[in-house]
Amino acid sequence: MSAIETWGEMVRVEHAQSDRVRGARPADTWRQHASRFRADPNRTDDSQVEAIRPCLRPDDTLLDVGAGGGRLALPLALSCRHVTAVEPSPSMGSVLRETAGDYGIENITLVESGWLDAQVDPADVVLCCNVVYVIQDIGDFVRKLHQHAKRTVRMIVFQTSPLAQVRDLWEQVHGETRHLLPSLPQFLPVLDELGISCKTTELESQRLRVYQSPTEARDDIATRLFVAEGTQAMERLDQALESSLQERDGQWHVAGTQPTRPFLVSWETQGA
Ligand SMILES: C[S@@+](CC[C@H](N)C(=O)[O-])C[C@H]1O[C@@H](n2cnc3c(N)ncnc32)[C@H](O)[C@@H]1O
Repeated sequence: MSAIETWGEMVRVEHAQSDRVRGARPADTWRQHASRFRADPNRTDDSQVEAIRPCLRPDDTLLDVGAGGGRLALPLALSCRHVTAVEPSPSMGSVLRETAGDYGIENITLVESGWLDAQVDPADVVLCCNVVYVIQDIGDFVRKLHQHAKRTVRMIVFQTSPLAQVRDLWEQVHGETRHLLPSLPQFLPVLDELGISCKTTELESQRLRVYQSPTEARDDIATRLFVAEGTQAMERLDQALESSLQERDGQWHVAGTQPTRPFLVSWETQGA
């Protein structure tokens, strides 16, 4: 199997498992999580934003594919001429629109569409952060990113897919191995296959996900494992959390989880 086929197959297998355990896929899978992507665009301590900012010139256009709630697009809009944010999730789009309004950021246009369907102009810089894990047609997706970048592409990709953090709990609750989405180790061979030669730089690890109470942890983890209240799966989750949830300085986390390791993946397209 080629790297592109391997990637697509991993996404297919993970999605099939998720759909079987969860039942029908909701129209907007981000509805319950979108508010976590709201962030102050004026902050200066975000290592992901600051890793990208230096490639922007004041007169640049930026295209952010899978912009989410604007966690990167909005602070970066302060460093360039215009941002086009492509985002298919209505709840994420609402967070982006509201945050832009709250902070008076007007040089951003939201295109409510998936990337392969989006009709947008090329931009000086194309950004795509924490998105690719769920993309089945990874070859077409990355080719289109490349074709829309007049100067450079910047992506952030995790070393392991974000849901790996609750993999052990999944297995205790559902009694089966959790198939993981592809991530950086599968992504670099995809770029290679597309003839794209990139540079990778490890960024600051993200803090462990912590909760303010065991109830908050239970609710969030139940959502991520597709476990509903009043089911036997919830009983198994409660049992598993008794030994897995640990408290430190008044905050709770799942024992044994490692901080996620983001990598900046970049390449130049000018002259390509
Ligand atoms: C984890 S969020 C990341 C958001 C933002 N880039 C960030 O780093 O905060 C992933 C986003 O990718 C978007 N997404 C998923 N499939 C997409 C597609 N085919 N085209 C564009 N965006 C997509 C989701 O709707 C979601 O908002």
